[in-house]
Amino acid sequence: MKIKLSPSILSADFANLERDIKVAVDAGAEYVHVDVMDGHFVPNITIGAPVVKSLRKATDAVLDVHLMISDPDKYLDDFIKAGSDIITVHCEANGDTREQLRKIRAAGIKAACVIKPATPVETAIELLPECDMILLMTVEPGFGGQGFIPECMDKIRALRKAIQDGGYQCELEIDGGVKQNNVVECIEAGADVIVAGSAVFGGDIAANVKGFLEKFEKG
Ligand code: DX5
Ligand code: ZN
Repeated sequence: MKIKLSPSILSADFANLERDIKVAVDAGAEYVHVDVMDGHFVPNITIGAPVVKSLRKATDAVLDVHLMISDPDKYLDDFIKAGSDIITVHCEANGDTREQLRKIRAAGIKAACVIKPATPVETAIELLPECDMILLMTVEPGFGGQGFIPECMDKIRALRKAIQDGGYQCELEIDGGVKQNNVVECIEAGADVIVAGSAVFGGDIAANVKGFLEKFEKG
Protein backbone atom coordinates (compact mmCIF):
# COMPACT_ATOMS: atom_id res chain seq x y z
CA MET A 1 0.00 0.00 0.00
CA LYS A 2 1.37 3.41 -1.00
CA ILE A 3 1.22 5.79 1.96
CA LYS A 4 0.75 9.50 1.31
CA LEU A 5 1.52 12.52 3.45
CA SER A 6 -0.96 15.40 3.59
CA PRO A 7 0.67 18.26 5.50
CA SER A 8 -1.90 20.48 7.22
CA ILE A 9 -1.23 24.12 6.41
CA LEU A 10 -2.97 25.08 9.65
CA SER A 11 0.50 25.01 11.19
CA ALA A 12 2.24 26.70 8.23
CA ASP A 13 3.11 30.40 8.02
CA PHE A 14 -0.12 31.97 6.70
CA ALA A 15 1.88 34.90 5.31
CA ASN A 16 4.02 32.46 3.29
CA LEU A 17 1.74 29.61 2.32
CA GLU A 18 3.09 29.26 -1.22
CA ARG A 19 6.65 29.03 0.08
CA ASP A 20 5.87 26.54 2.85
CA ILE A 21 3.76 24.33 0.57
CA LYS A 22 6.50 24.29 -2.07
CA VAL A 23 9.06 23.12 0.47
CA ALA A 24 6.75 20.32 1.68
CA VAL A 25 5.79 19.20 -1.83
CA ASP A 26 9.35 19.33 -3.15
CA ALA A 27 10.37 17.12 -0.22
CA GLY A 28 7.78 14.49 -1.25
CA ALA A 29 4.35 15.40 0.18
CA GLU A 30 1.65 14.42 -2.34
CA TYR A 31 -1.37 16.13 -0.79
CA VAL A 32 -1.84 19.52 0.86
CA HIS A 33 -4.40 19.45 3.68
CA VAL A 34 -6.49 22.63 3.97
CA ASP A 35 -8.44 23.03 7.22
CA VAL A 36 -11.53 25.19 6.73
CA MET A 37 -13.18 26.22 10.02
CA ASP A 38 -16.23 28.43 10.42
CA GLY A 39 -16.14 29.32 14.13
CA HIS A 40 -19.44 27.44 14.53
CA PHE A 41 -18.90 23.76 13.79
CA VAL A 42 -15.62 24.13 15.65
CA PRO A 43 -14.49 26.91 18.01
CA ASN A 44 -11.92 28.38 15.63
CA ILE A 45 -11.90 30.34 12.36
CA THR A 46 -9.35 29.76 9.62
CA ILE A 47 -9.72 30.24 5.89
CA GLY A 48 -12.30 29.91 3.14
CA ALA A 49 -12.76 29.28 -0.56
CA PRO A 50 -10.87 32.42 -1.75
CA VAL A 51 -7.70 31.06 -0.16
CA VAL A 52 -8.22 27.66 -1.81
CA LYS A 53 -8.59 29.49 -5.12
CA SER A 54 -5.26 31.25 -4.59
CA LEU A 55 -3.55 28.02 -3.49
CA ARG A 56 -4.81 26.38 -6.69
CA LYS A 57 -2.66 28.85 -8.65
CA ALA A 58 0.31 28.32 -6.34
CA THR A 59 0.62 24.51 -6.46
CA ASP A 60 -0.13 21.45 -8.59
CA ALA A 61 -0.28 19.24 -5.49
CA VAL A 62 -3.56 17.57 -4.57
CA LEU A 63 -5.62 20.07 -2.55
CA ASP A 64 -7.23 18.01 0.22
CA VAL A 65 -9.90 20.31 1.65
CA HIS A 66 -11.32 19.42 5.09
CA LEU A 67 -14.54 21.33 5.72
CA MET A 68 -15.15 21.87 9.43
CA ILE A 69 -18.27 23.93 8.78
CA SER A 70 -21.87 23.57 9.96
CA ASP A 71 -23.53 24.06 6.57
CA PRO A 72 -21.67 22.34 3.72
CA ASP A 73 -24.75 22.73 1.48
CA LYS A 74 -24.30 26.52 1.50
CA TYR A 75 -20.63 26.47 0.51
CA LEU A 76 -19.91 23.30 -1.49
CA ASP A 77 -20.21 25.13 -4.83
CA ASP A 78 -17.61 27.68 -3.72
CA PHE A 79 -15.09 24.99 -2.78
CA ILE A 80 -15.78 23.03 -5.97
CA LYS A 81 -15.20 26.15 -8.12
CA ALA A 82 -12.11 27.12 -6.12
CA GLY A 83 -10.22 24.10 -7.49
CA SER A 84 -10.29 21.56 -4.66
CA ASP A 85 -9.19 18.04 -5.64
CA ILE A 86 -10.72 16.31 -2.61
CA ILE A 87 -13.54 17.74 -0.51
CA THR A 88 -14.25 16.21 2.89
CA VAL A 89 -17.53 16.80 4.71
CA HIS A 90 -18.30 16.00 8.33
CA CYS A 91 -21.01 13.42 9.00
CA GLU A 92 -21.93 15.53 12.07
CA ALA A 93 -22.60 18.67 9.98
CA ASN A 94 -26.05 19.76 8.78
CA GLY A 95 -27.67 18.30 5.67
CA ASP A 96 -27.64 14.88 4.00
CA THR A 97 -24.03 13.72 3.89
CA ARG A 98 -24.76 11.13 1.19
CA GLU A 99 -26.21 13.82 -1.09
CA GLN A 100 -23.26 16.11 -0.38
CA LEU A 101 -20.83 13.33 -1.36
CA ARG A 102 -22.78 12.68 -4.57
CA LYS A 103 -22.70 16.36 -5.44
CA ILE A 104 -18.92 16.51 -4.95
CA ARG A 105 -18.38 13.43 -7.14
CA ALA A 106 -20.75 14.74 -9.80
CA ALA A 107 -18.46 17.77 -10.06
CA GLY A 108 -15.54 15.45 -10.88
CA ILE A 109 -13.91 15.89 -7.49
CA LYS A 110 -12.96 13.18 -5.01
CA ALA A 111 -15.47 12.94 -2.19
CA ALA A 112 -14.71 12.09 1.41
CA CYS A 113 -16.60 11.96 4.67
CA VAL A 114 -15.09 12.48 8.09
CA ILE A 115 -16.11 11.43 11.56
CA LYS A 116 -15.09 12.96 14.88
CA PRO A 117 -13.40 10.68 17.43
CA ALA A 118 -16.65 9.93 19.30
CA THR A 119 -18.79 9.20 16.23
CA PRO A 120 -19.36 5.47 15.59
CA VAL A 121 -17.40 4.07 12.63
CA GLU A 122 -20.66 2.65 11.23
CA THR A 123 -21.71 6.21 10.35
CA ALA A 124 -18.84 6.40 7.86
CA ILE A 125 -19.00 2.75 6.80
CA GLU A 126 -22.53 3.08 5.47
CA LEU A 127 -21.34 5.91 3.21
CA LEU A 128 -18.48 3.88 1.69
CA PRO A 129 -20.16 3.49 -1.74
CA GLU A 130 -20.15 7.29 -2.05
CA CYS A 131 -16.60 7.86 -0.79
CA ASP A 132 -13.19 8.06 -2.44
CA MET A 133 -11.69 8.62 1.00
CA ILE A 134 -12.76 8.32 4.62
CA LEU A 135 -11.17 10.61 7.18
CA LEU A 136 -11.01 9.66 10.83
CA MET A 137 -10.31 12.49 13.26
CA THR A 138 -7.79 11.35 15.84
CA VAL A 139 -8.21 14.56 17.88
CA GLU A 140 -11.27 16.75 18.47
CA PRO A 141 -11.37 19.01 15.41
CA GLY A 142 -10.58 22.70 15.86
CA PHE A 143 -6.91 23.09 16.63
CA GLY A 144 -3.50 21.84 15.58
CA GLY A 145 -0.94 20.56 18.05
CA GLN A 146 -3.20 18.33 20.17
CA GLY A 147 -2.36 14.80 21.37
CA PHE A 148 -3.49 11.69 19.44
CA ILE A 149 -6.48 10.00 21.13
CA PRO A 150 -5.30 6.39 21.69
CA GLU A 151 -8.82 4.90 21.47
CA CYS A 152 -8.85 5.91 17.78
CA MET A 153 -6.35 3.18 16.89
CA ASP A 154 -9.10 0.52 17.02
CA LYS A 155 -11.28 2.73 14.83
CA ILE A 156 -8.56 2.85 12.18
CA ARG A 157 -8.52 -0.98 12.22
CA ALA A 158 -12.31 -1.19 11.98
CA LEU A 159 -12.47 1.22 9.05
CA ARG A 160 -9.65 -0.55 7.18
CA LYS A 161 -11.43 -3.88 7.67
CA ALA A 162 -14.69 -2.47 6.31
CA ILE A 163 -12.94 -1.02 3.26
CA GLN A 164 -11.17 -4.33 2.62
CA ASP A 165 -14.20 -6.55 3.26
CA GLY A 166 -16.32 -4.45 0.90
CA GLY A 167 -13.62 -4.35 -1.79
CA TYR A 168 -13.75 -0.55 -1.95
CA GLN A 169 -11.11 1.61 -3.62
CA CYS A 170 -11.22 4.08 -0.76
CA GLU A 171 -8.35 5.80 0.98
CA LEU A 172 -8.27 5.99 4.78
CA GLU A 173 -6.94 9.26 6.11
CA ILE A 174 -6.24 10.15 9.72
CA ASP A 175 -5.94 13.66 11.12
CA GLY A 176 -4.66 14.94 14.43
CA GLY A 177 -1.74 14.30 16.73
CA VAL A 178 0.22 12.21 14.24
CA LYS A 179 3.98 12.42 14.71
CA GLN A 180 6.96 10.47 13.45
CA ASN A 181 6.90 8.46 16.68
CA ASN A 182 3.34 7.12 16.30
CA VAL A 183 2.83 7.09 12.53
CA VAL A 184 4.12 3.54 11.98
CA GLU A 185 1.54 2.15 14.40
CA CYS A 186 -1.19 4.11 12.55
CA ILE A 187 -0.07 2.71 9.20
CA GLU A 188 0.03 -0.81 10.60
CA ALA A 189 -3.53 -0.26 11.83
CA GLY A 190 -4.54 0.60 8.24
CA ALA A 191 -4.19 4.34 7.59
CA ASP A 192 -2.85 5.24 4.14
CA VAL A 193 -3.15 9.04 4.05
CA ILE A 194 -1.46 10.79 6.95
CA VAL A 195 -2.30 14.36 7.91
CA ALA A 196 0.34 16.10 9.97
CA GLY A 197 0.42 19.79 10.80
CA SER A 198 2.66 20.73 13.69
CA ALA A 199 4.93 17.73 13.01
CA VAL A 200 5.59 19.00 9.47
CA PHE A 201 5.54 22.80 9.73
CA GLY A 202 7.15 23.04 13.16
CA GLY A 203 10.88 23.36 12.49
CA ASP A 204 12.65 22.19 9.31
CA ILE A 205 9.78 21.44 6.92
CA ALA A 206 11.79 19.46 4.34
CA ALA A 207 13.54 17.37 7.01
CA ASN A 208 10.21 16.67 8.71
CA VAL A 209 8.58 15.51 5.45
CA LYS A 210 11.54 13.27 4.66
CA GLY A 211 11.44 11.88 8.20
CA PHE A 212 7.80 10.88 7.69
CA LEU A 213 8.50 9.33 4.29
CA GLU A 214 11.24 7.19 5.82
CA LYS A 215 8.80 5.99 8.48
CA PHE A 216 6.27 5.15 5.74
CA GLU A 217 8.69 2.60 4.33
CA LYS A 218 8.70 0.83 7.70
CA GLY A 219 4.91 0.75 8.03
C1 DX5 B 1 -7.65 19.84 13.42
C2 DX5 B 1 -7.24 19.80 11.98
C3 DX5 B 1 -5.96 19.13 11.72
C4 DX5 B 1 -4.78 19.75 12.38
C5 DX5 B 1 -3.74 18.69 12.60
O1 DX5 B 1 -8.96 20.25 13.53
O2 DX5 B 1 -8.24 19.13 11.22
O3 DX5 B 1 -5.75 18.98 10.32
O4 DX5 B 1 -4.21 20.80 11.66
O5 DX5 B 1 -2.68 19.26 13.31
P1 DX5 B 1 -1.63 18.39 14.13
O6 DX5 B 1 -0.97 17.45 13.14
O7 DX5 B 1 -0.71 19.40 14.68
O8 DX5 B 1 -2.40 17.62 15.17
ZN1 ZN C 1 -7.87 18.55 9.06
